This record gives sequence, structure tokens and C-alpha cells, in this order.
Amino acid sequence: MEFGKLLSWEKKDNQVILSYEKNQVILSVIKDDIINVFVPCWEKEHYSKSIEGDKTLPTEWQVEQEGDKIVLTTSKLKAVAGEGFFIDFYKADGTPLMEEFRGERKKGMELSQKSIRLLEAEGHDVSKLTGAFYPVMKMMKLDKEDKFYGLGDKSGFLNKRSYEYINWNSDIPQAHNEDYRSLYKSIPFLICLKEQAVYGVFYDNTFRSCLNLGKESQDYFFYGADDGNLDYYFMGGESMAEVIGNYTYLTGCTPLPQFWTLGYQQSRWGYECAGDIKEVTSKYRELGIPCDGIHFDIDYMEDFKVFTWDEAEYKEKGKLIGELKEQGFKPVTIIDPGTKAEEGYFMDDEGREKDYFAKDTEGNVYVNEVWPGESHYPDFGRKEVRQWWADHHKFLTDMGVCGVWNDMNEPASFKGELPLDVVFHDEARTTNHAEMHNVYGHYMCQATFDGLQKLTGKRPFVITRACYAGTQKYSTVWTGDNQSLWSHLQMMVPQLCNLGMSGFAFAGADIGGFGAEATPELLSRWIEAAAFSPLFRNHSAKGGRRQEPWQFGEEVVDINRKYIELRYQFLPYLYDLFYQGEKTGLPVMRPLVLHYEHDKNTYNMNGEFLVGENILVAPVLEPGVDKKMVYLPEGTWYDYWTGEAVEGNQYILRDAPIDVCPIYIKAGSIIPMYESAQYVGEKPYNTLYLLTTPGAGSYEHFRDNGTDYEYQDGKYILYRFTKDEQENLVTEVLHEGYEAYEQIVVRPIGNK
Ligand code: GLC
Repeated sequence: MEFGKLLSWEKKDNQVILSYEKNQVILSVIKDDIINVFVPCWEKEHYSKSIEGDKTLPTEWQVEQEGDKIVLTTSKLKAVAGEGFFIDFYKADGTPLMEEFRGERKKGMELSQKSIRLLEAEGHDVSKLTGAFYPVMKMMKLDKEDKFYGLGDKSGFLNKRSYEYINWNSDIPQAHNEDYRSLYKSIPFLICLKEQAVYGVFYDNTFRSCLNLGKESQDYFFYGADDGNLDYYFMGGESMAEVIGNYTYLTGCTPLPQFWTLGYQQSRWGYECAGDIKEVTSKYRELGIPCDGIHFDIDYMEDFKVFTWDEAEYKEKGKLIGELKEQGFKPVTIIDPGTKAEEGYFMDDEGREKDYFAKDTEGNVYVNEVWPGESHYPDFGRKEVRQWWADHHKFLTDMGVCGVWNDMNEPASFKGELPLDVVFHDEARTTNHAEMHNVYGHYMCQATFDGLQKLTGKRPFVITRACYAGTQKYSTVWTGDNQSLWSHLQMMVPQLCNLGMSGFAFAGADIGGFGAEATPELLSRWIEAAAFSPLFRNHSAKGGRRQEPWQFGEEVVDINRKYIELRYQFLPYLYDLFYQGEKTGLPVMRPLVLHYEHDKNTYNMNGEFLVGENILVAPVLEPGVDKKMVYLPEGTWYDYWTGEAVEGNQYILRDAPIDVCPIYIKAGSIIPMYESAQYVGEKPYNTLYLLTTPGAGSYEHFRDNGTDYEYQDGKYILYRFTKDEQENLVTEVLHEGYEAYEQIVVRPIGNK
């Protein structure tokens, strides 16, 4: 990117427009701690797909020329622009935040043609070894202590420093390793925790892009994109929580879900008829293991044609769904975007007649292959296409389907990737696959969300595999095709924590692992680790061992029952976290660093997490181990199982036999709990239990009908519980718009 000398600058509305010899840079003050940097090197407009509406708030700010520098200040940030095109960000008090790197880029490893030939002959991916060139690029200074978090679902560990990632939604059936650069989602949002400060950057560009976080050099990190504008939002904040608040202010918060969606869910690609499904659901009830969701994978359709139902195998339309609902199950059906190319199939006929499918550059409907064989790809970037897709969900909601699982929406394609020039639209604007690839899943989810919302009036339950920044407004996510590997159980913790810090409060991984085959021990440890993960679903693949708890013997059944019941007891706490998160953007499952960012021990803490601020979960993530080294941050913590008080700021060794997942509750906690049930709605929640630990504290608890939007019209009850050092507990009702509990029972742990 060439800029040349700064020729002039002007202040206009909330912007400073800098005119360089060869380019223009526009700085926009969004609010006192968010500044957008925009270089229209592609188009004059932002064309953001993740930020809806104008987020600019009235803000006091100044701009001045100081020597050859242009200095923009708000009450919280200072941006300094000058020679060439360098923009450095500081806190208002001068503490450095993101400064540009002024040196030369170090080229990637040079390989001879001979070496490349040899490596490729054995199947090595040499693209990872050589430093690619990006036409849109920014290099930033890297300090020794900088740590990176966020970036959505990227594989590997919590702290992303020293790795390189590519934002290009990819269907990866192979075992996801820590060196995979892309998975299913593209969330170009980064949190940088420095020694003295924290900041965030969101690179809002949907083209294929790269974040090299100190892999190429320990002196700099860089962002590069294949095309599009350089369009990034710099975010300040006094804490990681404030940075996340700023990011979700821009891209939206995860909305409050329906209460039942926090319950346990069973899935498998391989229930091939109504009998298979009924056998599983009956077994759950027979064994007394709570279960709410039952998922229908692709086999329920006729020839994998979306919005059809295979009556031969799955009973007449609506019958099976009705029977399952009578037993308290909530059926969720999969919907893939690839629409079977077949004359006479209504979806294909309509899509072609209305011109709703993506096309090649010659103007023919583009064809690739997915489950149904040759398929067409709806052009979801257009409102009318989304509307059409949304309306077809009536077929599912009329039958009583309770949620929709969107898969294969990277979009997946079995005959090679869609060429970059396949014609798609961004609303009325004609564009191509290169720009729309990473938002294909995003727009599909928006269509599904709108359809379910309009058709049912309830809060839509949508699960997606692919998405972009901002999709959290429409859909929950799962981490795709993981495998029954201990390394994938380990990866679940940082992956869900980073998704949470990237706006996706409602995320989960396939419990037990999708591919490969689980062992009794692995499934036991997995259910323990996942009991507090927001999306709580066991799913496995055709061909492999079945993965319902009873496939592994009685001990595994008991462990599953114990942790699924535990989950049901904590449902009101999880629901409260979602209720708060809808306003703050904070996730449910949080890495320790989010609340203890001055504690070095938390920076790379991959094997523990917090649930809200009050619960710390330290699952066993290795085979053959019956002890866990647990790190407890500052303060006093209470062992959930024994009530024992343990001082924080230290590592302890906790016994963890196969049925024990170490859980700690912070001092001064008040945690709402229910009695476990077989499913949400089995019996009314008349009693609220309050789990308390010694120490003063206060907590707000929200209750509503758990299904629709009435709470937004005041139909909810909000309690506040306050407890002093003498353990006197006071209950207040802050808002009265929904049924109160019949009784509130305090269950103290920890001696008092
Ligand atoms: C993909 C999904 C998986 C699903 C399968 C069949 O692999 O990731 O969850 O079961 O397709 O639909």
C-alpha cells in the first residue's frame, strides 16, 4: 500500500480526512474509545456486513497539527498520524497501545524449487512455510509481553501469540491441530493484552485475510488481506471486559436464548429412521438422564433435499416431532444451504425461476456437489433470497420443530472450492465469492433467524458451523467436526473461551468428539468439562462408535447423569449470564485472564475456565489421571463438593477420581439454582435455591417465561440478593412483572 507524503488534512463531522500523495485515510471517532481507520483502496463505502446501522455517538474530541504529526484526542484515546501512513494509538495519558512497526518485513523462509517439489511430493503444505504478500496490509510493533486473544474458533491454545491464522471459512474434516490456520469461522477481532494496558482491533474486511501474530517475527505482528479496503476499528478500554464491550457494541451481543436451549442435547449423524430416534429418547427417560434437545441430521430429508421429510423412514410429517414433544424433547433439524439441482424439486425450481442462485461468470447457475449430489447455492447476500429461505422454514415450524442447525455453510463443496469469481451479491451490488465467502454462513443464519422469529414469535434457536464477526446476533455456534481425541477435549476449553471473547457467548463443541471413537474415560471427562459450556450437545459421526452415555457401561451412565443433572441445577445461573451478556457482551464461559488480567498465571491458562465471575471449573483433560493441578486466582475459593475453603493465588493439587470435576465457588457468591428435572418444562420451578459462600456479596437474578420477547415489555421479575459479612441475606424485588417464586431456600457451603 503506497501513500507518499501527507499533503493536507481536514476535520469534517466526526472525521479527520488525511490526504496523502497516493491515498486517503479517514479517521472516524465512533465514541471516546473506538476509532475507525479507513483507507478506501477498494471501494469508497465500508460495506460492513457485521456492523448494523451507524454506531457513532456524540463525542468530544480534538484534532491538532503538532509539527509534522496530526494528533486526534478523545477523553480516552490519542491517535497520532504522520509521515508515510503510520497511525499510532495511545491512551489519553500517553500509555502506548498499538504502535506501527516502522522496519522492513522479514521475508518468509525461502525454499528452492527442488525442496518445494520434494515436500509437495510427500504431501506437505508449503504455503504455510513461505511468507505471503498481501496487497492490503498493516504491520504493528510487537512487545515482548504482548498476548493475543479472540479470533473466534481458531485451533490451538488460548494465547494466539507466535501463530499465524487465515480468515477463510473452511470445512476441515481432518483432526484440527494447533497449526491449522483456518477453521469454519472468520472473526478478525483481536484483543492484545500488554504489560500495562489492553486494546482490541477489529479488521472489518470479508476477503481472505491473515493475522500473523509474531510467527514471522517477534518484532511485529501483521494483518494482511487479499483484497477489499483497509478498514479497522481500534478499541480502547480499561480492561479486557471493556474491550469486549466495545467490540460487541459494534457487532452486537448474543441475544437472550430460550431457556430450554441451555439444557442437554443429543445428536448423531446416523439416526436413520424414526425407530433410531425413539430408541435414544426413550433410553434417556428410562435411565433418568435429563435431555431436552434431539437433533435430526441430514437423513431425515428425502435425498438430502432441504425442506423435505422422508416419510418412509421418519413417519408421516409432524407425527414423530409431535410424539417427541409430548415427552418433553425439543426437535432440532439440520438445514444445509446446498440445494439439490433437480428439475421438479420445488426449491430448485423456485430458486432458478426467481434467479436466487449464485452464477458463474457466463451467467449459468453455478453447480458444485454436496450431500444431495449436484447442488446450487442460494445467493444469501440478497434480502429477497433470505426472505424466500426464511419463509420456507414454515415447513419445519408447522411440524413443531424447535430449532434449526445450519451446516456446510462455509460454503462446503465436494468438487473443489467455489472459484473466487462466482457471482454473488451484497444486497443490490453485484460482487463475487471472494468477498462473500466468509459471510455466506452469516447471511444464511440471518435468514434462518428471521424466519424462525417471524413464524414462531419465539427467540430463534439457530446453530451454525460457519460465520463471520457479528453472526452472534442470529446464531449460536458449534466448533464443527472435532474428534474423539484427548487433544480435542483439551482444545475445547481455549476454543470456547476465545469464541466467547469474540462475541459468541453461546458456543459449544461436540461432546465426546464427532469423528474417531470415544473411550469410556474420554466421554466421562468430556461431559464433566462441558457441563458448563454454553451449548451442551453430544454429537458423533456415522461409521464410528455410537456415543450415547449407555454405550459405555454403567459407570459412564452414572457420570453423565451426575454432570447433566448438575448442569440442570445451574441453569438459572447460566440464564442470568446470558441475560447480562445481552447488555454487556460478556461471555458465559470465560478464561481466567478475563477477570485476572494482572495475574501472569492466567495468561496461558488452557485447562481451567470461569463461568461468569463466581464459578471456576478445572476439568481433568488427560487420560489415566486422578489428580488435577488447579490454579486459584486471588481471594478465597470454596470447593463445590466439600465446602472446604482454599486460599487463592496458588496452585493446589485436587483429587479428581473419574467421577470428579474440581469446581470452586468464589467467596461472597450467591448463585441461583433449581432442582434438576428430566427436561425444561417437566415441572414448574417454584423453588429457587441460593448457593452461598461466606463473605459479603450481591447478585441479581432474572426470571421470565423463557421463550419469547415479552420480557422486553417488562414481563419479568428481577431479584437482588445482598449478603453482608455476618451472612444476613436480604431479598429485594427490583422489577415485578412475572411470577415470583413460592419459596427461596438458602444453601450455604463453607461452614457458615
Ligand atoms: C458435517 C457436520 C456434522 C454433520 C455432518 C452430516 O460433517 O459438521 O456435524 O453431522 O456434516 O450432516
